Order: sequence, then C-alpha cells, then structure tokens
Amino acid sequence: MTITANWSYPTSIKFGAGRIKELADHCKALGIKKPLLITDRGLAPMPITQNALDILDAAGLGRALFADVDSNPTDVNLEAGVKAFKAGGHDGVIAFGGGSGLDLGKCVAFMAGQTRPVWDFEDIGDWWTRASVEGIAPIIAVPTTAGTGSEVGRASVITNSETHTKKVIFHPKFLPAITICDPELTVGMPKVITAGTGMDAFAHCLEAYSSPFYHPMSAGIALEGLRLVKEYLPRAYKDGTDIEARAHMMSAAAMGAVAFQKGLGAIHSLSHPVGAIYNTHHGMTNAVVMPPVLRFNRPAIESKIGMAAAYLGIAGGFDGFYDYVLKLREELSVPDKLSALGVGTDRIDEMAAMAIVDPTAGGNPVELTLDAAKQLFHDCI
Ligand SMILES: [Fe+2]
Repeated sequence: MTITANWSYPTSIKFGAGRIKELADHCKALGIKKPLLITDRGLAPMPITQNALDILDAAGLGRALFADVDSNPTDVNLEAGVKAFKAGGHDGVIAFGGGSGLDLGKCVAFMAGQTRPVWDFEDIGDWWTRASVEGIAPIIAVPTTAGTGSEVGRASVITNSETHTKKVIFHPKFLPAITICDPELTVGMPKVITAGTGMDAFAHCLEAYSSPFYHPMSAGIALEGLRLVKEYLPRAYKDGTDIEARAHMMSAAAMGAVAFQKGLGAIHSLSHPVGAIYNTHHGMTNAVVMPPVLRFNRPAIESKIGMAAAYLGIAGGFDGFYDYVLKLREELSVPDKLSALGVGTDRIDEMAAMAIVDPTAGGNPVELTLDAAKQLFHDCI
C-alpha cells in the first residue's frame, strides 16, 4: 500500500511523502500570486522551510517569509503579521509549522480582512458572524509536526499579551482551503517533540472518544486515531526516519483534531493552566496528567474504554487500557509527575480555578469541580 492520497475531508488534503513539491501548484489553483509563508522563529532557518520558499521562488511566487512568531503566538505577533501581509501586498497565506505557525498563519489570513479587534471573534456563541468574509485570504496549511491537528481546524489559539490568557479565535474560514500533509517534513523532529506532539494527538482522540456528547462520526474517527498512535508512535519515536510511521502519525494528528469537535476533557483542562503558568510543552503535559484523569473518569467511561481496548487489541478492559497508557508513557520517556516539568504545588488553587472554567472542562465525562481539580493537581504534581 502506498500512503499517498487526496482526501476532501474535512478539507482538501494532499497526503503523502514528498508532496510539499506541489506547493506552488496549489497556490496557483487557489489564485494566490503573492503568498506569505508564516512560521515560527525556530523553524524559519531550517532546511524544510527554506526548501518550501525555494519551491515558491522557482515558480515565480516570491519567497516572502514572516517568522516573528512565538511558541505561544500572541496578539503582538498577529498584529505584526497582518502588517507584513498588507505591506507586502500578499494575497494568500501558507501557514507552516507546528501549532504556533499554523495558528498564527490562519489568524493573519483571517484578520487581513477585518476591522474589529481579534478578541471580538473569540469562540463564544455566534461571535464569528461579526466577521467580514470578503477580505479573508486563502490559506494553505503545511504541518511539520504530528499532534496539534490545527491544519484541519477552524480555530486558532492566540495568547492575550496583556492578560496572559489563551483565547480561542473561531471562524469557519480558518479551515485551510488546502492542506499538504507531507510526512517527510516531520522526520527531523527531535524525540521529545515526537513524543509530546504524538501524545497530544493521543489525548485528542482519547478525550473526544470519552466525551459524553452524541457524535458517532467523531467517536469512530477517534477510535481509529488511537489505534494509529498505538501502532506507530513508538516506531516514529524509536526511528524518526521511519516514513510509514511518520505518515500514520500525521493522519492520527489530523484525525484527533477532526474528532475533538465532539469534545475534549479534563486532560486539556488541567494542561492549559499548567502551560499558561509554567510554559510547559502542551502534549507532554497532557501525557503526564493522563493517568490521574483516567482514574477520575473511570466511573463514567469504564465500559466505553473497555470497548476501545478490545478494538486496540488490549486485554483486560479498562485496567488493561490504563496499564497500556502507563507503558506507552514509559516507552516515550514521559515523566510520571508534573514536578519533573517544573510545576510546584504552590499555585494549585489558582490552576484549579482556571481549569474548571476552561472551555474543555464541559466535555469531561465526570463533572470537574473545584475540589476535584485541586485533588487532580495534587495527584499529578
Ligand atoms: Fe491538545
């Protein structure tokens, strides 16, 4: 089987090793004549980024780059990006990278057409209908990690640089017009990032599958996403050049993000405040808090997880699945406790208060009360 395909769900996805070489063709198909490639600072000088710019350049599309993007992109990055987009007379965005490059790129394309401040488009009620649609620039997304799934998502997470809180900005037009999933771009990911981003994809699938909302399409996608991670994350971790494993992880990441419109849960509710306060890696934080959250949710998800375990070929129902998660973490050198990531017990009250109002908390199968959140943080740290 060759792992190359064109999909049109949830957007047009060009999947397969080496397909970054089609970048200029897809720009032309979308009518983009002067693209701005947006990525984060760390990725800008890397060969994969320079190669993408070379491809554009060779096709007469220029090699414009905006890389003033923090690892947690802010409104300041956004403003600078929109300014660069307008000043350069660009007509489309190539959102390139992990979560930060993808999220900021998508948001620049969106904000290029708006006059209201970005916070007016936070993912609350029907706020997205405030947007003026005409000026939104077309987006091509090119993921270089396998975890966030932002390449198939309709939102960006932008940090408010004044309040230091992360806000989800939503509009259906954030969904890239074309996504190029080229697993060769993920080959150079360091082991710790492979583990962290891969565990983020796993957490998306697990929480989507476990959430109590009725969404059988997402449940099915989440289940197969879990299987792909189980089979291929250890392989990608062991040998970063294993293209087959990298490809399946890239699929699992996109599937996790498609699935989580069914809901996320307390893994993310705990992880978000930890990340905001201690700047820990998102996926790695998810991996650390996963077992205590599984134990907490057990009364509501025991039989569901039993079914997932059976599908995954894990014996022993919920307990078997739980032990598998512990083993997977060990295999990927995920620390057992948050203290290993520099998290102390002194800010538990503050983090618990943030966790219970996190938008993901509502999708947890067991109600995440303030006391429960505090206890969970104690267990995790
Ligand atoms: Fe996540």
